[in-house]
Amino acid sequence: MNTGMNSGKGGIFISFEGIDGAGKSTHIEGLAQAFREQGRHVTLTREPGGTPLAEKLRAIVLNDPMDAMTEALLVFAARRDHLQQLIEPALARGEVVLCDRFTDATFAYQGGGRGFDLAVLAQLERWVQTVAPAGTPLLREPDLTLWFDLDPAIAAQRLATARVPDKFEAQPVEFFRRVAAGYAQRLATAPQRFARIEADQNIDAVWQDVLAAARAQGGLS
Ligand code: TYD
Repeated sequence: MNTGMNSGKGGIFISFEGIDGAGKSTHIEGLAQAFREQGRHVTLTREPGGTPLAEKLRAIVLNDPMDAMTEALLVFAARRDHLQQLIEPALARGEVVLCDRFTDATFAYQGGGRGFDLAVLAQLERWVQTVAPAGTPLLREPDLTLWFDLDPAIAAQRLATARVPDKFEAQPVEFFRRVAAGYAQRLATAPQRFARIEADQNIDAVWQDVLAAARAQGGLS
């Protein structure tokens, strides 16, 4: 939904998505700085997580083995708390909310990666993300989603030299091919909300694409 991002005063909600190793996290702080330089107050957050309760759920989801439905229910429980405690109040104050992953990750990882029922995810999305900031119910979604699209084979090479992998990062490349397909499918259902960023470029070129998308669709002047 459009939270009035052209007014310069309304809240703006931007999510960052992509498979593990796609490089999205590097650019979140940069975009936060760009908004701050325009006098905007920025809330930086992430999913699963963003509140004390949701961070506890994150630790469980990222480390404990569980079936795909349990995983989906836990990430949506975390999301509900995150929306109620942090995202909705920040948007109501007219802030810019930059979120490292949101519901598209659930469709990509639990839906695409783990093969969980997309129709059930869509139902959970409606339940969890229906909010009523001005008394009228609406489905809260990002105003803009930056999808860092990278070949899973390249992402796997990047991850191999990085940190200790969590449960998802330890998955084989085939899992990430399904996750990437999940993102592509999600984009196809809401193309106006997405900007696909070609993540297989040098970091400056990626940053320029991030800036261009934020100016075109994300309320950055
Ligand atoms: P990530 O965002 O990559 O954080 P970090 O950079 O600290 O590793 O890790 C979050 C992981 O959680 C990532 O592998 C994707 C997964 N995830 C889901 O499976 N479902 C979800 O709904 C969300 C938000 C994340």
